[in-house]
Amino acid sequence: MEDLSRRSLLRTGETLGAAGALAVAIQAVPWTWAPAWSRPGVGSGADPHFVYDPEADDLIARLIDRGEIPRVNQILRGWTTNGQPIPAGLPGELRDFLHHAVQLPDWTDHRKLADAVRFNEKRGTYLGVLYGFASGMMSTVIPREARAVYYSKGGSDMKSRISKTAKLGYDVGSLNAYQPDGELAVTAVKTRLSHAAVRHLLPQSPHWRSSADEPRPISQADIMVTWHSLPTTVMRNMRRWGVPLDPAESEGFLHSWQVTAYMLGVEDQYIPATWETADLQAQQVLDPILAPTPEGIKLADMLLDLGYNIDLTLLTRGVLGALTRFILGDQVADWLRIPREPVWSPLLETAWGPFIAVREGLLTAGVPRETYWMFDELLRQFVLYYMAELRMPITIEIPTFNNPN
Ligand code: HEM
Repeated sequence: MEDLSRRSLLRTGETLGAAGALAVAIQAVPWTWAPAWSRPGVGSGADPHFVYDPEADDLIARLIDRGEIPRVNQILRGWTTNGQPIPAGLPGELRDFLHHAVQLPDWTDHRKLADAVRFNEKRGTYLGVLYGFASGMMSTVIPREARAVYYSKGGSDMKSRISKTAKLGYDVGSLNAYQPDGELAVTAVKTRLSHAAVRHLLPQSPHWRSSADEPRPISQADIMVTWHSLPTTVMRNMRRWGVPLDPAESEGFLHSWQVTAYMLGVEDQYIPATWETADLQAQQVLDPILAPTPEGIKLADMLLDLGYNIDLTLLTRGVLGALTRFILGDQVADWLRIPREPVWSPLLETAWGPFIAVREGLLTAGVPRETYWMFDELLRQFVLYYMAELRMPITIEIPTFNNPN
């Protein structure tokens, strides 16, 4: 992966300047989604494009400016499980913040979280390709996210960043995610701190440019856009593929992500109450803003090398490109300059639906045996890939600098 660094990609002849014309496509869409559709059903209606996370942002900015983050990161490394006490030795103001930030919202419904676990167990095979790949690939055509990731510290290792977000996705539905022995409350709070650091650091990058629409990165609207690239995209694809879904389990899945949005610092008034209102929000804030950017094209190129150097024979650039085209559509694949794959593209288009139907016991025949085997193997290889990633402990460190390249 080293020789596929951002710098070497820049040398491939595609300069940011040449592709810079693409940047005009980046536009904000007005937020007209009503608080009535949110989880509490009420809210001020303030435009979340200009709402950030003032408490965490001010605190982290002070700690960065005082040079305290390396010590904080070192102490926080040992803080992993939800029920663990906040470690000693942290600056008092951070300790106080963590103390309440790690608490679940009072509307958490543990019965629904248990339904989410069943959803993950039953549908885990599809989640590898959906969280790990579809959501990750989609993030490269979310202009603000692509630019923020590319110019922040994590942009120099896209694979690691995508695995961490995919791991967070998996963890959301794991058995003990929000139980005292689970890790998700801590992971989400650490992510919240990292986002606060990015809001402070990125405006200092010579590459990232603020605008009247986007004075600072990672607004609450941006977080909800990315949120839709995760659970909403998973749900949309499962429905499109005809995967049978138990209503209680899909509601549980939604609930686990509502809690996660809260833990990432999103106000309740922006968190959709139902899948219907989530879809409405996605139609308004995700679908119309998808666009290519020079940065996103580079990041997608890095992601297509996900399987580089590992012994999973189906995760090749060609197959991953065909999957991108199949899952995200021709327009996105063309934006990302991913060519149509002559064998896999038509195969996915004609046989994926019947394959799911046979796999789910809805049809008894309809897919050639070799095709069935190959698709099943593809799902298995994604699971294997992410299982290997999942075994590694997730370490989220608050960044102290931008991408140096
Ligand atoms: C960091 C998840 C929204 C940009 C992270 C990390 C995770 C994560 C797990 C830690 C990764 C690491 O330490 O390498 C999420 C989730 C989101 C979300 C689940 C929404 C549901 C966003 C949005 C943006 C963004 C909307 C930008 C517009 C970043 C950046 C980093 C980061 C720049 C720091 C990477 C670094 O330089 O260390 N996020 N994120 N994220 N996220 Fe997010």
